[in-house]
Amino acid sequence: MKAGDLWSALPEPALLIDAAGRIEAANPLAEAFTNRSARALAGRPVEAVLAVDGRLGEALSRVRRSGASVFVKDMAIAPARANGAGGAEKEGREGPLCTLRIAPCGDQGRMLLLIAPQDQGAALAHGQPARKAAKAAIGMAEMLAHEIKNPLAGITGAAQLLAMNLTPEAQEERELTELIVSECQRVVKLLEQVEEFGNTRPPALRAINIHDALDRARRSAALGKASAMRFREDYDPSLPLTRADPDQLQQVFLNLITNAAEAAGPQGGTIILRTHYDHAMHLRRPDGTRIALPLQVEIIDDGPGLPPEIADDIFAPFVSGRENGTGLGLALVSKIVTDHGGIVSVESRPGRTAFRISLPVAPRGEE
Ligand SMILES: Nc1ncnc2c1ncn2[C@@H]1O[C@H](COP(=O)(O)OP(=O)(O)OP(=O)(O)O)[C@@H](O)[C@H]1O
Ligand SMILES: [Mg+2]
Repeated sequence: MKAGDLWSALPEPALLIDAAGRIEAANPLAEAFTNRSARALAGRPVEAVLAVDGRLGEALSRVRRSGASVFVKDMAIAPARANGAGGAEKEGREGPLCTLRIAPCGDQGRMLLLIAPQDQGAALAHGQPARKAAKAAIGMAEMLAHEIKNPLAGITGAAQLLAMNLTPEAQEERELTELIVSECQRVVKLLEQVEEFGNTRPPALRAINIHDALDRARRSAALGKASAMRFREDYDPSLPLTRADPDQLQQVFLNLITNAAEAAGPQGGTIILRTHYDHAMHLRRPDGTRIALPLQVEIIDDGPGLPPEIADDIFAPFVSGRENGTGLGLALVSKIVTDHGGIVSVESRPGRTAFRISLPVAPRGEE
């Protein structure tokens, strides 16, 4: 069999891209997908041919830098409508969600790009029972948290009473009662986090400046768990207001900053707080409508990266890669951001972990 036969037999649209991001070859399915012949595609920048939601350029440069292949899930991709000189007309795209795979190909900086449309029916069928199970688990945990806190208060009180009646010589007993009190307090704190997670208070939405919430989270973290971290701000000062509950948004940023600091460890590291506007970012609802989420907030750290064994599940409750971690920080982030109509995503490798929150703009008249 010749290499050309193999290329034609690939069951997904495939493009070969040169080091400058231009299309070198397209298989028949890619011709059908883009509605253009391989000859018409040759030499064109890939981003002029596919309308994608802003993450393609980033993914290509990641493959170029790391030499490793990259998966990008939930990417809205469609053939770009020709627009004057042939550039992609981003607003015009109506593409299905796809998984994109990009792999380095040879040593000349070429890359192979495979486009696999996602079976949305299957994704929903898998996702929903999982979400239901998670909800039931949280409800149960919340109930337990409430029930366990009462006897713990009794145990703490009893230990404190014992300590008060000890003679000054009973040093060992004093240490033991202190241990009971401090461990009980630790468990109470953990249970309070579980209760906080189960808290179903809807967000009190109003038009707010994202930078204010970021600054408050940074200051609060710098006084606590992130005291060894350096911060760099890369703000877009013209960013429009978003519609959010200020306390909940601050909690989201605080959780992300805290995680970055905990991953860095006691020697610290650098956290970049970045905001920018991306008019191409949209969320597609199951009913087919699209919501613009142009406000982007990124919290980027230079720590070790997500532990690979839990990387796919970090937003699920009780998933933690840390000793003493509750695994509720990111589940809460995901819940709050979803309640605000936004999305959260992450890209991570050793040396760079970037959490991105995409949010809607506050409606006119509310600003
Ligand atoms: N910036 C990051 N760098 C590396 N790993 C991270 C980062 N953020 C999260 N993680 C990993 O994801 C896990 C889940 O995070 P999450 O905030 O949900 O829980 P936790 O930090 O373990 O506990 P909690 O936040 O409830 O105290 C962490 O335990 C850690 O292993
Ligand atoms: Mg955390």
